[in-house]
Amino acid sequence: MNTTVLTPAILAPRRVERLVQGMPTSDGAGVKLTRVLTHTLQRRLDPFLMLDAFGSDVAGDYIAGFPDHPHRGFETVTYMIEGRMRHRDSAGHEGLLGPGGVQWMTAGRGLIHSEMPEQDHGRMEGFQLWLNLPARDKMNTPWYRDFQAEDVPTFSPEPGVTVRVIAGSSQGVDGAVQRNATEPVYLDLELAEGKRFAQALPAGHNGFVYVYRGEVDVGGTVVPAQRMAILANDEQADGVEIVARAPARALLIAGRPLRESIAQYGPFVMNTQQEILTAIEDYRSGKMG
Ligand code: CO
Repeated sequence: MNTTVLTPAILAPRRVERLVQGMPTSDGAGVKLTRVLTHTLQRRLDPFLMLDAFGSDVAGDYIAGFPDHPHRGFETVTYMIEGRMRHRDSAGHEGLLGPGGVQWMTAGRGLIHSEMPEQDHGRMEGFQLWLNLPARDKMNTPWYRDFQAEDVPTFSPEPGVTVRVIAGSSQGVDGAVQRNATEPVYLDLELAEGKRFAQALPAGHNGFVYVYRGEVDVGGTVVPAQRMAILANDEQADGVEIVARAPARALLIAGRPLRESIAQYGPFVMNTQQEILTAIEDYRSGKMG
């Protein structure tokens, strides 16, 4: 990409409020994964509801996949690092996600979908992020798009730094998806040892860094692999600085909080308990596709 990029001068980088270690769990038909952003962090990291990391060389950990299940009221963003996953949903969408690919699905008023591995051996690795929708958009028509690796805008501000812009924008490069309500920024950073990356972020936006290879320094705090660093929201902070202490890969995710009530029952995320009961009833009576 032929883009002139200016590394922003961050005057007051965000501090790390705390480090979080993910919880091993399983979901779908028995896929082993690590829940990095758990239920208890939903208010703190509003508008993000969940982040799962999956990664295994053992087919038995992932082969059962995620057979038909519903969603309503939010968006799911699946990002594959290794392996292939096929998606089908009741709105008629189907796609095969390969290494480096992103699938963005807006469940809106609801659909039923499956996410199944399209391989019976080899490594499967990736992430699924849940991004909340504002109350006014929760019952919108479902939306879906696949981005193969080459369709995810990628730039290199200097040798040893590669930035994949899944959502939002970074140093003038617009990502694959933009959302007005929550202004999500979702970057995958690949840094050689000693390399630095800076991103401007509004102080009020909630954000975190999840390191999945190597080790980085975020605002003076060492963040090892498999840890999420929650970024503090100091009023004067104007961005985040990440320096690789070893060859590293990390996700930087941030967004504008919705500050609305959250009512969740499994794959339904609404604002009130009544809306959850309606979602369950709509699913049971076949109104979700
Ligand atoms: Co799903």
